[in-house]
Amino acid sequence: MIKSTIKGIGHYVPENVVTNDDLSKLMTTNDEWITERTGIKERHHRKNRNDSEETTAFLAFKASEKALKMANLTAKDIDYIIFATLSPDYYFPGSGVLLQEMLGCDTIGALDVRNQCSGFVYAMSVANAFIKSKMYKNILVVGAEVHSFGLDFSDAGRGVSVIFGDGAGAVILSASDKEEDGDILSVNMHSEGKYADELCTKFPGSKFGWSDRMRLEPESVTDAEIYPVMNGNFVFKHAVTRFPETMNEALESAGKTIDDLDMFIPHQANLRIAQFVQKKFNLPDEKVFNNIQKFGNTTAASIPIALSEAIEQGRIKKNDLVLLSAFGSGFTWGSVLFQY
Ligand code: COA
Repeated sequence: MIKSTIKGIGHYVPENVVTNDDLSKLMTTNDEWITERTGIKERHHRKNRNDSEETTAFLAFKASEKALKMANLTAKDIDYIIFATLSPDYYFPGSGVLLQEMLGCDTIGALDVRNQCSGFVYAMSVANAFIKSKMYKNILVVGAEVHSFGLDFSDAGRGVSVIFGDGAGAVILSASDKEEDGDILSVNMHSEGKYADELCTKFPGSKFGWSDRMRLEPESVTDAEIYPVMNGNFVFKHAVTRFPETMNEALESAGKTIDDLDMFIPHQANLRIAQFVQKKFNLPDEKVFNNIQKFGNTTAASIPIALSEAIEQGRIKKNDLVLLSAFGSGFTWGSVLFQY
C-alpha cells in the first residue's frame, strides 16, 4: 500500500508587519474592535501594494525552497505542482506555472486550485489521490496569497480589509511504502454554490461585464465589484456548522474519534470560529493550533503556514494524528486527516 507522507514543509511571509494600530491610521477602526471580533493583532503585507516582485508565486517560491530543503529534495525531484490561491499573479495563467519556472522544475504539470479558504485542503486531497494512484511520487502542494494589493482600506471596506494578510505555505507530499512514514488517512471536500455571493470578489468575472464594454474599463467598474465583499455574520454561522460536520466525517471515515486526535489545525479564518469549534469538541488548548493573531487570515496559505509553525515549534511530532479543516468562500469546506 502506497502512503502519502509529508516529507517537507515551509512557510514564508513578507517582512512588513501591519498592526491593528497601523490600520487605524488608514480607516476608522481600532485594536480593540479587531482583537475582540477576530483575535488578530497583526498581519504581514508586502511593503508596496503595487510591488511586481513580491508576488503570490514569489511567496510560494520562498516557502517551497524551505519545504524542499526539509525533504532533502531538489526542484528536479518534483513531479507535479498544485497551487492554491485566490490572488494569482495574473488573471491567467495561474501561478502554478510561474512557480514551476521560478524553481527550475522540469516541464511538469502545474495545476491551480481556486477554492479560496478551502484551497489547501482541496489541493492536498488531489495530491493524495495522485500519489495513491501511483501517478506521481513527489508533489509540491502550496497555498499562497497576496491580499494586500486588492483590499479596500477605506471605511467602506473595513469589515473585510482588517482580516486578511499575505503569506505562503508549501508541503512536499511524497509516496512511501516505509512502515515508519506517515500517511493521509481520509479526506473530504464539499461545496454549496448558492452562497457564492456571500463572500466573493466579482471583478474581473464574466458575469460582471456589459456587452458594450471591454473587461477593463476602469470608469465603469464599481468598488463593490473590484473589492472582496463578505456577509460576515452569515459566513460565521455557516462556518460553525460546517466545521464540525467535515471534522466528524474525516474522523469517522478513518475509524478514529476526536480523542485519538493529537492536533487540530483549523483554517485561520477568525479566532472566534476556531474557539467555538474547540469548545464544541471539548478539545484542550494543547490539541489546537492557532496563529491568526500574527498573520491574519491568509486564505489558502493559512493551514500550511500554521502546520509549518506547529511542526517547527515541536507541537506536532512524528506519528501524531493531525486534522486540517477549512471553510470559506464558495461556500466550500473540507478536511484532511493524516498521521505525521
Ligand atoms: N472596525 C471598527 N468597526 C467595524 C469594523 C472595523 N474594522 N468593521 C465593521 N465595523 C462596524 C460595522 O460597521 C458595524 O457598525 P454598525 O453597527 O454601526 O453598523 C459594527 O462594526 C458591527 O459589524 P458586524 O459586521 O455586524 O460585526 P461582526 O460582529 O459580525 O464582526 C466579522 C464582523 C467579519 C469579524 C464577523 O462577522 C466574522 O468574523 N465573520 C466570519 C468571517 C470570516 O471568518 N471570514 C473568512 C472567510 S472563511
